[in-house]
Amino acid sequence: MAEEEVSNKHVILKNYVSGFPKESDMEVKTTALKLKLPDGGDYSGAILVKNLYFTCNCSAKDRVTIGFPDLFFFRRHPIGDLLWGLTRWEEYSVIADPETRFKIHNNLPPLFNCSALLTGMPGMTAYAGFFEICSPKKGERVFISAASGAVGQLVGQFAKAFGCYVVGSAGTKEKVDLLKNKFGFDEAFNYKEEQDLNAALKRYFPDGIDIYFENVGGKMLDAVLLNMRVHGRIAVCGLISQYNLEQHEGIHNLFCLITKRIKMEGFLVFDYYHLYPKFLDMVLPQIKEGKIAYVEDIAEGLENAPSALIGLFSGRNIGKQVVVVARE
Ligand SMILES: NC(=O)c1ccc[n+]([C@@H]2O[C@H](COP(=O)([O-])OP(=O)(O)OC[C@H]3O[C@@H](n4cnc5c(N)ncnc54)[C@H](OP(=O)(O)O)[C@@H]3O)[C@@H](O)[C@H]2O)c1
Repeated sequence: MAEEEVSNKHVILKNYVSGFPKESDMEVKTTALKLKLPDGGDYSGAILVKNLYFTCNCSAKDRVTIGFPDLFFFRRHPIGDLLWGLTRWEEYSVIADPETRFKIHNNLPPLFNCSALLTGMPGMTAYAGFFEICSPKKGERVFISAASGAVGQLVGQFAKAFGCYVVGSAGTKEKVDLLKNKFGFDEAFNYKEEQDLNAALKRYFPDGIDIYFENVGGKMLDAVLLNMRVHGRIAVCGLISQYNLEQHEGIHNLFCLITKRIKMEGFLVFDYYHLYPKFLDMVLPQIKEGKIAYVEDIAEGLENAPSALIGLFSGRNIGKQVVVVARE
């Protein structure tokens, strides 16, 4: 039988990116691709997939030089399993090491109504960062920055369900409303409207912060350090305010780590994938009972991926930025 040939749209990096990335640093190209796995060598266990949806991750900018690997939901060709994991910004991909990709649970509502995201990388990041790094106790006071983002909105809901007092910061009034009215945060504030972040945190945490889930870094981290309680924990998940700076801002209040005996730990979700079954045990019942809300921002078509990625750095996205490459 003749091998099927398809056109494979993909995004390439035109220029090395320093500072804030621009759409013009990327280009969408189309090449022909035979739907056949390469023979032998490193490809003995490889699979061919059709990419369906991917999520834009702000740290992708640091990975663009190696061809935009990003979080994708895809269908194995020709077998048809739905999987998630990292691949490239293209319509079809050959994955040489499929063991690092995960099958999507069959008994969930159909893709794509958030359940795949919840049970994928953002959910796993929120779970590992909050429960493994922060070791929460009921009643503790939790602060989350970039709280309406993919990870933050879940950390907040996990923390509320666990019995914590939860406050989030975000960059627009609309996002602040979402945090309070849809995700059930106790309080939320627009960090862009605060002249003095230290004073803002004191307003919401008069007795200090036990747990800080760090997504942004910079001035927010400095203000948080001043407001942490003794034996507080800080999970350093991301530092989006620093990713595009030529010169990273310094942190001035690190002495608080000593005087308040704070534990501050960075983590990468990939180190926690062995906990994936434990995470699903926790989250699947909550999803089925409709106890978790999730908001995402959908861009249609791979050609809109560069603009969707750039939008993350100005906060244009509301919730997880998803790009639909194909619906089936
Ligand atoms: N450690 C890991 O394994 C891991 C895994 C996944 C993600 N991450 C990191 O976790 C963080 C959150 O990821 P996500 O996927 O939830 O984010 P996201 O949904 O992509 O949201 C990004 C949001 O960050 C905010 N932001 C952008 N620039 C900012 C700035 N200069 N200062 C403060 N806020 C800014 C914007 O919201 P506003 O309108 O609120 O400003 C933007 O919408 C990121 O730093 C990401 O790199 C880490």
